[in-house]
Parts: sequence; structure tokens; C-alpha cells
Amino acid sequence: MQHKTRNVAIIGTGLVGSSCAYSMVNQGICDDLLLIDINRERALGEAMDLSHCIDFTNVRTKVRAGSYEECGDRDIIIITAGAPPKPGQTRLDTLGVSAKIMQDVVSNVMKSGFNGIFLIASNPVDIITYMVWKISGLPRNQVIGTGTSLDSSRLKAILSDILDVDPRSIHGYSLGEHGDSQFVAWSHVTVGGKPFLQILEEHKDRFGEINLDEITDKVRKAGWEIYNRKGTTYYGIGNALAFIARSIFNDDHKVIAVSAVLDGEYGVKDICTGVPAIITREGIKEIVELNLTPVEKEKFQQSNKVLKEYMQTIGF
Ligand code: 2OP
Repeated sequence: MQHKTRNVAIIGTGLVGSSCAYSMVNQGICDDLLLIDINRERALGEAMDLSHCIDFTNVRTKVRAGSYEECGDRDIIIITAGAPPKPGQTRLDTLGVSAKIMQDVVSNVMKSGFNGIFLIASNPVDIITYMVWKISGLPRNQVIGTGTSLDSSRLKAILSDILDVDPRSIHGYSLGEHGDSQFVAWSHVTVGGKPFLQILEEHKDRFGEINLDEITDKVRKAGWEIYNRKGTTYYGIGNALAFIARSIFNDDHKVIAVSAVLDGEYGVKDICTGVPAIITREGIKEIVELNLTPVEKEKFQQSNKVLKEYMQTIGF
């Protein structure tokens, strides 16, 4: 019986890459997991440690350290390599260093004949995703950034606390840059299928104190609240990567807010930014164009302007 194994490589086995690997192994998302890092001993140590998890899981995942030459048969390559922000820096401030790393990473991967799906978490993720698309030459559906998937999860967690409703019954997105210029499309947030704005209108007695701008700000700053306490973040982004990878392998056709290459959607071309997209075995099947309000459209345009300004600093 022919059995196509699900092959993944993770490039960068620091805290984000190893957290993603741990999620992949625990959830049995792939069959063969290749770990690549500039620090080969680190990758080997992670592979050995993760291999000792398998006996306690439900799916056997073969985990090993390897090299770029072995990427040709990978279905998904997850990129987490990059420079973490120094205190006081924004994600965008790390672009110069991360861009240099990415040039080498992608060029080396493409020499292997890789023709699968890139899944990128390296920050500033929107611009790095755009870079990976340009350097790899792969079709845009095969290049996906985690984008505002994590921010949208943070939005749901915040609303879940306020409403005492399971975050999985709350739907909605933070859109745009995975960074300070992101915004929440409040017009499309629903709770159990009911528009959130309508809930606020109907229950002023219970929710009259809610300030949407304050919630948006909490979503934007959530990563920094964690960074300021533990020095970085890795569980949320690690699970976001695993969630998207599982959706790809399962051919879910799930709508997830990811960083996608736009080619006319939302009236925008030649940029990567956080938008809802249908995720399938082929990567991005379709970008979902929400009917944003005029205010939301303005915020989206402002976010794209910020991204374009930084893209120019590295020649795009
Ligand atoms: C975050 O917001 C790592 O940028 C990622 O946690």
C-alpha cells in the first residue's frame, strides 16, 4: 500500500522552532521531521530530546537533525530563523539582520529542488514572507507567513475573558502587519455567530464599559507584555505554526489569518500582509476579501504603507 509520508523541515531550532517541533510531535502532525540550525549540535540535541517523546505520543514521528541538501522531499518547510528584537526595538527594527539570514536560508533550500510550501514565522514576518516568495520564485500560494494568526488568537483570548465564552466560539481577525500597525476588523467579529457589535448594543448594561480601541491595543501589545516578562515568546507562535501545518496536511479548507502575497485582493498588489485565507493541501487556495468599513479600509491602507516603507529599505 502506497503511503505518502508527511515530511517537514524546521529551519531554526531556537525557542520558537523547538516549541513548534514539540507541538508537531505531540499532535502527530507529520511523519518525518528534519531539524536544521546553524548550530548543528543544537539541532541534534533537539532531535534527540524530541525522539524521546515519541513513546508517549499517539503518532510515530521520526525526528532528526539534517542539512539543506535534504530539503528536496519536504512537503512543508517552516522557517523560524531570525534575529530577536533587542529591548526597545520593534519587530520591524530586526529586518536588516533577518533579511541577511533569509537570503542564505532560502537560496540553500532552493538548491535542494524544494517545491513544497514555505511556512514562515521569522519577524518582521510580513516582509520576510515577501522576501521568501521573491527569492524562492515559488507560486504565491506556496508561501505563507504566520501573519496575524497569533494576533487573532490573542484577540479571541481577550474577548473570551470578557465574555466568559470559549475562544473557539469567537470568530474574527486582527489584520494587516503583525506588528504595531495591525487593527481589529470589529465589523466582522462574531460570538456564536452573532455580531459582537450587536451584542454590545443589546447589552449596554453588561458591556457598556468595553472600549474597542483599548482591546485593539491589548492585542497589539500582547507579545510585548510576554517579552517584558520572559524575554521572548514561543508557545503561541509555535502552536500557530503547527496549527497552519496541520490545516495544510489535512486539506482543511479552514480560514486562517495569515500573511499572504496580495495580487489585487483588497485593491493591493505586491505586498505580504495579514488577511484571512483558505488553507488547503496546496497552501493558500483563496484570500477572503472582507467588506471592511471605511475606517477599517483606512487602517489597512496605513498598515500597508508602513510595510512598504520598510520593504524599500531592503530594496523591494
Ligand atoms: C509574537 O508576537 C513572536 O512576533 C511573535 O509573539
